[in-house]
Amino acid sequence: MLAGGCDSPVRSGWSIGEPMFVPRTAHGAYVFDERGRRFVDYVMAYGPLLFGHTHSALTTGLDELVRDGFVWGATHVEEVRLAERIRGYLPSMQRLRFVTTGSEAAMSAVRVARAFTKRDLVLKFAGNYHGHFDLALLDAGASAQTSDARRSGIPDGVMRDVAVARYNDLDSVDALLRDREGTLAAILVEPICANMGYVAPLPGFIEGLRERCDRFGALLVFDEVITWLRLGVCGAQGRLGVAPDLTVVGKIMGGGAPIAAFGGREDVMAVLAPDGGVFTGGTHAGNPFCVGMAHRVLDLLETHPEYYTQMSALAKRLAEDIRTIFAERGLPYAVVQHESIVDFKFRAGEPNRNYDDARAADKGLHATYYRAMLERGVLLPPSQNEVMFLSTAHTIEDIDETLTAIAQALSA
Ligand SMILES: Cc1ncc(COP(=O)(O)O)c(C=O)c1O
Repeated sequence: MLAGGCDSPVRSGWSIGEPMFVPRTAHGAYVFDERGRRFVDYVMAYGPLLFGHTHSALTTGLDELVRDGFVWGATHVEEVRLAERIRGYLPSMQRLRFVTTGSEAAMSAVRVARAFTKRDLVLKFAGNYHGHFDLALLDAGASAQTSDARRSGIPDGVMRDVAVARYNDLDSVDALLRDREGTLAAILVEPICANMGYVAPLPGFIEGLRERCDRFGALLVFDEVITWLRLGVCGAQGRLGVAPDLTVVGKIMGGGAPIAAFGGREDVMAVLAPDGGVFTGGTHAGNPFCVGMAHRVLDLLETHPEYYTQMSALAKRLAEDIRTIFAERGLPYAVVQHESIVDFKFRAGEPNRNYDDARAADKGLHATYYRAMLERGVLLPPSQNEVMFLSTAHTIEDIDETLTAIAQALSA
């Protein structure tokens, strides 16, 4: 009944030619299939489940959140309080607006940037993913492999106003912008990337984007839909020490409920109606239930500062032991770990720096490995563009079980 059998193609297993994994239930760090088999889950719903599947602070007492109504179609006190809390962590978000998904947030940020600069050109990066609105799909990472944009419903007019550069390559940025600097509205980037596997920005790359935006009168837009709260409460911008003009957040902030936000400089966000002439809005924008869930997520992180160190320690152990397993077998793959993210690809050499590196990984080997891990009770993301996400629910026993499965899968 569902088109293509799913609501999001990555779930279909299309990237590896595998049947779709259909969970029946989930608990903590585990998902269970139709037959009740248990799998240690590293997909974590593609990012939102920082606390695992069923943290009691997010799955109990939910009637409290709807006691006064589920959706109001009106601005409410908790929504304003949430905006203030977010600004406390991300001071660059001087003004923000809530939406429902990361796609909507990124699309809205681009519109705001174009309206503010009165320009059209957006520069983005191959292998970054910003959702499924038209320009974001060009050479996108994650599961959005629409190599032939013309056959994918993206009008020519949209493609004219997008430039797709190589991540970590300022020369490619400069080459694409030559003679077009005056038309650049925004550079849209995942400041730390997790949609072509994990790719860290090289020293100076993000600073270089900031400098070019300033020089050309364009806006720098950080897509922190994965990184905010995954990499701490101050996100990638806190870690890199670079302030964007606009930021997009989502995923973890809803604790499983759909809520996202975009925001940034007060003067820039002033283009939005009713102050300015740019429209964004939605029936579920600032939905009270989702806002309540987001407060619970921030409450949890504030009362459990140890969560981040706990996840990092487990992820570090997982990454180090995978390195040992590779070394014992003479396998030349780089393992990367950043806080609760662990990743490796079947490509010899240094960690990935851009989408060309990511695409060079051995797809057949990945598919075989995915299958061998599934047989051993570990659920990995099917696409090589994704990473392993740990959660606060993962334990040292889960890590040990995973390492045994990896060693056996590689031998097999
Ligand atoms: C960095 C990034 N931006 C935007 C999105 C789109 O978010 P959503 O799936 O909520 O539309 C995603 C989703 O994976 C993402 O990883």
